[in-house]
Amino acid sequence: MGVIDLFGKSSSLCVERPKPSINCCSFEGKPRRSKSTFMVPPASSSSAAAVPVKEDGQQESVRSLTGDSFIRPHLRQLSAYQPILPFEVLSTRLGRKPEDIVKLDANENPYGPPPEVFEALGSMRFPYIYPDPESRRLRAALAEDSGVEAEHILVGCGADELIDLIMRCVLEPGDKILDCPPTFTMYEFDAAVNAALVVKVPRNPDFSLDVKRIFEVVEQEKPKCIFLTSPNNPDGSIIDDETLLKILGLPVLVVLDEAYIEFAGIESKMKWVKKYENLIVLRTFSKRAALAGLRVGYGAFPLSIIEFLWRAKQPYNVSVAAELAACAALQNPVYLENVKVALVQERERLFKLLKEVPFLNPYPSYSNFILCEVTSGRDAKKLKEDLAKTGVMIRHYSNKELAGYVRVSVGKPEHTDALMESLKGLY
Ligand SMILES: Cc1ncc(COP(=O)(O)O)c(C=O)c1O
Repeated sequence: MGVIDLFGKSSSLCVERPKPSINCCSFEGKPRRSKSTFMVPPASSSSAAAVPVKEDGQQESVRSLTGDSFIRPHLRQLSAYQPILPFEVLSTRLGRKPEDIVKLDANENPYGPPPEVFEALGSMRFPYIYPDPESRRLRAALAEDSGVEAEHILVGCGADELIDLIMRCVLEPGDKILDCPPTFTMYEFDAAVNAALVVKVPRNPDFSLDVKRIFEVVEQEKPKCIFLTSPNNPDGSIIDDETLLKILGLPVLVVLDEAYIEFAGIESKMKWVKKYENLIVLRTFSKRAALAGLRVGYGAFPLSIIEFLWRAKQPYNVSVAAELAACAALQNPVYLENVKVALVQERERLFKLLKEVPFLNPYPSYSNFILCEVTSGRDAKKLKEDLAKTGVMIRHYSNKELAGYVRVSVGKPEHTDALMESLKGLY
């Protein structure tokens, strides 16, 4: 996942409210079915030329237009996206082969997918045909996997796509979302892209939700939806049922992101969408099935909501390869379970070892990563850089809430050993 720095220009609680746009076309987000298309006058009518030619002054003003003047005003305020370095670039920069890099910075699953995935991709028959816009095979397999009927399930190009799609369907420019940082930064990023305002209720010092404040802010600010993450990225804490039920009683759409639920030892709340009209549950193949590179996420939705997501989604959002791979991964639940058990066991070993490091204070985690406070006057950014020189990548944060923290993904036992070896070289 790329690193989004939203704290550059707009560190305040909201993104800027959009001003009236200079381009007057109304875009309603439904390009193929839109009734808002307009007719171009025939060439014989007054002005068919692309550039006005009537007066010198006018021509001059067109020439002096810069491309950014066409960009929607709220997007001009957006801080630049900071992509992570592609793996190959990183490997060249570090002077190491990709397989020699201990990559513990993006919560990827180092075991890779089950062998069935490689077999399915190797024998793919119809890559030249567009994929099924309804991902029928995969949704049927997911229904079996989750116990939730396929009609409640929609698949996306990663959970990331579904977060954006939900916002595009739910939010008018100027609507508010409630965000509980520190958490996954894509909620804030997509809100900014969708011209929504972000109201923040920071988590308690132990990273639990500040439920009392959430209630107050919902009453005062009337956000349209709240994004909750369980387990939460970056600290790995989970939301208990009692808290979730309380929040579901509020008049907001609750988007529960369960990207890491498999590592938590608790059941997914996917089935709850049949009971709660204001609940959406998001999941992904990136972590559980090690398919981060193929981009497959999915969500469970109440029927009254999913119908509109179907209308607004890109028809071919899940590629042939992505659907094949996800279906093949679900054919080997034993492999998926064994990998999960290995990662959870390794998380416990890693936690104990990190606790012994004199300048780290790790937080207990229900996920495949561990957040550590960097103590004893050490600098978190420098720690990340020093480890990178030894070929060990961990995550450091540039936003002020997490400036003194690093996050370490759980890898294979040999990755833990390499990390500990490198850390020892720093005491
Ligand atoms: C909490 C959370 N949700 C969603 C995602 C994105 O999932 P996907 O890879 O399916 O887009 C991530 C990725 O790191 C995440 O941490």
